[in-house]
Amino acid sequence: MAALLLLQDICKSYYLGEEEQPVLRNINLTVAAGEFLAVLGPSGSGKTTLMNIIGCLDVPTCGHYVLDGISVDTLNEKEMAKVRNRKIGFVFQNFQLLPRLTALGNVELPLVYSGLKTVERRARATAVLEQVGLGEKLRSYPNQLSGGQQQRVAIARAMVTNPAIILADEPTGALDQTTGQQIMELFGELNQAGSTIIMITHNREVAKVAGRTVRILDGELIEGGEARARRNYRYVRRQYRP
Ligand SMILES: Nc1ncnc2c1ncn2[C@@H]1O[C@H](COP(=O)(O)OP(=O)(O)O)[C@@H](O)[C@H]1O
Ligand SMILES: [Mg+2]
Repeated sequence: MAALLLLQDICKSYYLGEEEQPVLRNINLTVAAGEFLAVLGPSGSGKTTLMNIIGCLDVPTCGHYVLDGISVDTLNEKEMAKVRNRKIGFVFQNFQLLPRLTALGNVELPLVYSGLKTVERRARATAVLEQVGLGEKLRSYPNQLSGGQQQRVAIARAMVTNPAIILADEPTGALDQTTGQQIMELFGELNQAGSTIIMITHNREVAKVAGRTVRILDGELIEGGEARARRNYRYVRRQYRP
């Protein structure tokens, strides 16, 4: 099993004056390409902090992070931004769509710096919106769409660049139960079609759709991944050193 993502002894602390406030403690985790992983934990347990590190939005205080063969912990800010744009597709609880752009405009946006021509960008964005069931809503603005439809647009936007990983932080948190369920089914379909997904949630039911669940409690990962992460670490370093 080739590891797509490897976290080794990752920790993150904030400092309140001199006082250290540990938020993540020695996190070890391996995720293979094609996996659908749920990270389940209560509010305040460190889920978003972990997602920000995995998503190259934040750096750990210590530990190693290898993403798709790249040692993220050795990168500077600019290189990290590049890895983030190329490798990660984000989905948030509150969709975070741009209100002045149509569904199509929102999904096309991540492709602006891709070098694709306008026509190609439009075709790619349209295809992904069709894949998430919004082929009829290309010209709709976010405020003309339901919450579930807006989240579908956000998922299309996350997928349009063909990222190595889709990272979703509480993606059903703002949706009613039925709509949330439909969104989870969509993630399941995307995973079946080959997408690697890491989904963060505090909801046990939501986590059930995933192929594997790890739990985070008070900054510690308390289930799964650890022994495997250690074993794969050297292997990954050897295989993928950039
Ligand atoms: N920038 C920050 N400065 C200080 N403490 C923070 C910061 N960000 C998060 N925390 C603390 O880290 C802990 C975990 O937060 P978070 O990762 O957002 O948890 P979750 O997403 O599981 O609710 C919380 O106790 C929070 O107060
Ligand atoms: Mg959170």
